[in-house]
Amino acid sequence: MIIKILVLSSIILNLVLFFLLNKKKIKKYLHKNNIKEEDITKLHQSFELNEISKNLKGPKKEALVKSFSISSDNTIVGMTSEYEAWILSTLSKTSKNIFEFGTCSGKTTYLMALNSSEDTKITSLTLDPRNINKLERGNLDNKVSHRNIVNESIYEKFLFSGTDVEKKIDVIFENSLEFEHFAYKSKIDLIFIDGGHTYSVVKNDTEKSFEMIKPNGIILWHDYVPGKKSSKDIVKYLNKISKERKIYHIKNSSMCFFQNI
Ligand SMILES: C[S@@+](CC[C@H](N)C(=O)[O-])C[C@H]1O[C@@H](n2cnc3c(N)ncnc32)[C@H](O)[C@@H]1O
Repeated sequence: MIIKILVLSSIILNLVLFFLLNKKKIKKYLHKNNIKEEDITKLHQSFELNEISKNLKGPKKEALVKSFSISSDNTIVGMTSEYEAWILSTLSKTSKNIFEFGTCSGKTTYLMALNSSEDTKITSLTLDPRNINKLERGNLDNKVSHRNIVNESIYEKFLFSGTDVEKKIDVIFENSLEFEHFAYKSKIDLIFIDGGHTYSVVKNDTEKSFEMIKPNGIILWHDYVPGKKSSKDIVKYLNKISKERKIYHIKNSSMCFFQNI
């Protein structure tokens, strides 16, 4: 009997250990991507590689960008990775009309302003921290994502406030669910969807974006991370619409990509 108990406990212990050591892989497997993964070099010509020598390839000048980093002591909520920031900055270089859902600290807005041409117009839509207590959670909305919206809606001034590029940027403090997008219909070259991560908000922002995007324009979504709680609604919604729209998951990032061609 004791031997049986020992064998059983050892099996359980091994299973627990195996799960803990392979947690990420198991989660990824269980939440299999429905969206095709593609390397950024295959998605847009600005990222195609320049052959330097037989065994070395590098970025073309189209992919050289102005950038900055946020130090680890400077706690800013809701940010993109360096790689994602580079993709967004590169695409901004060839975009005259940019729209962003979700300003937060303004890190991505600032990068897009730094890298776009002088005459580019950037509109960034975000919740007013003073009205955040009026926010309601929809029936289909994930609790964690709803809580994150509240935690990320804290800035009234942004990283670009007081800088030379501020003149390119219009921040609109409004709930995107109430936002009238008709004035922007077919006018936007680049849209970055990084507002609320709840189902109702992602669906709303995406549907409006498909109407706002110009022919050839690009839509990027942030935080497509299968298996991550706060991304649950984004993954669910994007997986669903990717059956009708040619959306790609950019390899080694949490971004999804769509070009209106
Ligand atoms: C993840 S942060 C954006 C991060 C930013 N793009 C960056 O990387 O620097 C999310 C932002 O979306 C805004 N947001 C959330 N739900 C929204 C809604 N329904 N309408 C407008 N803005 C919303 C929040 O106020 C917050 O500023």
